[in-house]
Amino acid sequence: MDICVIGAGYVGLTSAAVLAELGHRVICVDKDLEKINNLKNGIIPIFEPLLEDLIKKNKTLLTFSHSIEESISKAATLLIAVGTPSNIDGSSDLSFIKSVINEISGHIFSYKTIIIKSTVPPGTNESIYKTILEKGVDPSQFNIVSNPEFLREGSAITDMINADRIVVGLRDGDGYSLSIIKQMYHGLKSPYIITSLTGAEMIKYASNAMLALKISFINELARICDKYLVDIQDVAKGIGADARIGPHFLQAGIGYGGSCFPKDVLSLQFSAKAKNVNTPILEALQEINDTQVNIYIDKLKEMMPDLSHSIITVLGIAFKANTDDTRYSPSVRLMNRLSEIGCEIHAYDPKAVLPMAHNRIIQFNRLEESILDSDCLILATDWEEFLQLDWNDVKSKMKGNILLDARNCLKKNEIEKLGFNYLGIGRP
Ligand code: UDX
Repeated sequence: MDICVIGAGYVGLTSAAVLAELGHRVICVDKDLEKINNLKNGIIPIFEPLLEDLIKKNKTLLTFSHSIEESISKAATLLIAVGTPSNIDGSSDLSFIKSVINEISGHIFSYKTIIIKSTVPPGTNESIYKTILEKGVDPSQFNIVSNPEFLREGSAITDMINADRIVVGLRDGDGYSLSIIKQMYHGLKSPYIITSLTGAEMIKYASNAMLALKISFINELARICDKYLVDIQDVAKGIGADARIGPHFLQAGIGYGGSCFPKDVLSLQFSAKAKNVNTPILEALQEINDTQVNIYIDKLKEMMPDLSHSIITVLGIAFKANTDDTRYSPSVRLMNRLSEIGCEIHAYDPKAVLPMAHNRIIQFNRLEESILDSDCLILATDWEEFLQLDWNDVKSKMKGNILLDARNCLKKNEIEKLGFNYLGIGRP
């Protein structure tokens, strides 16, 4: 098939690379000319494992363009994967989607299957369909499909190839588009879940809200376990063994970040409020996540009453391991809070770059430099390279001996044997 992917971000580039790998001819379009020129020269704008290799491997099938008009003329299947960031009020900013739909509507001269992969609030696909009709496009010339993604940054390629499910939202009476979707994903073994356009949109939001809820639940439980001197990892194992709960997303720590959970939970809340539905669970899970950083600050203050003027090393800037993405990173929020208290922060991350310039927060290119003479070390992102560190050597380079494990990912007993004062949450 000829497919035009609109949007060259985390989702668009991953989708384009995987679809080319499946044998399709793919044109990936973006309005960012510099990004497109870089991609044409083999420079990938984001760090995502396996992505660069897959793009290079499929360079005869995968091309890049700056022009929607030129690109959609060559493809009967259009996949829209542009961003839908949060507005101040928590609603989704659909301006990028709207501008793409406006541009597409003016260039439909043969049948198009328009697939919305972007995360959009319930009801958006239906309104997109109406908008295209209002722009004068004949209903016989197109159809809309909702096909949300469930990709995790850091494992997006494998998540798409081994998806737990492919969710497809169809318009009433659309007996054609499913065959196009199945042709597009031919070769993937994932089961299909077929629903309405709005059903597919709702599945996406419910999925992210449920995952965020699991994280906030285990973090609230960790706060309780902390007081009862119970190991939260035993509790996570004990409940996770129940098939109805499952072992995933029960890792207590400093909380979730990223470009999805924060914005999608807010957007779902906004959609609910628009229909006068109260969302106490969505409120609560956000409140726990927003205040989780405070728990760690309080723990530090207990150990170091006068935090100001101390040197604190923070390992990890990205919102999670295996990505360079710092959007809504709990580590960044923690560093900002510590700098407000007067600490000097020495930060290091294998891939991510500090998203802000700050006179008290210095990013080091080498981990060894970031730990020199520090009073306390915080592990804020669970990069594998941190888990494999020679902690004896780390301690010899520090001035103090406090290690705050904000991802509960180190072995407490081993760390304490080296002379560290280990702090976690629910880690007695
Ligand atoms: C998420 C969803 O997993 C994915 O399906 C959706 O398409 C996009 O949003 P992503 O945000 O990329 O993916 O990463 P994810 O692995 O879900 O982690 C999100 C955040 O939760 C990270 O900050 C991570 O550190 C945190 N997390 C995750 C926990 O704190 N505990 C856990 O047990 C798991």
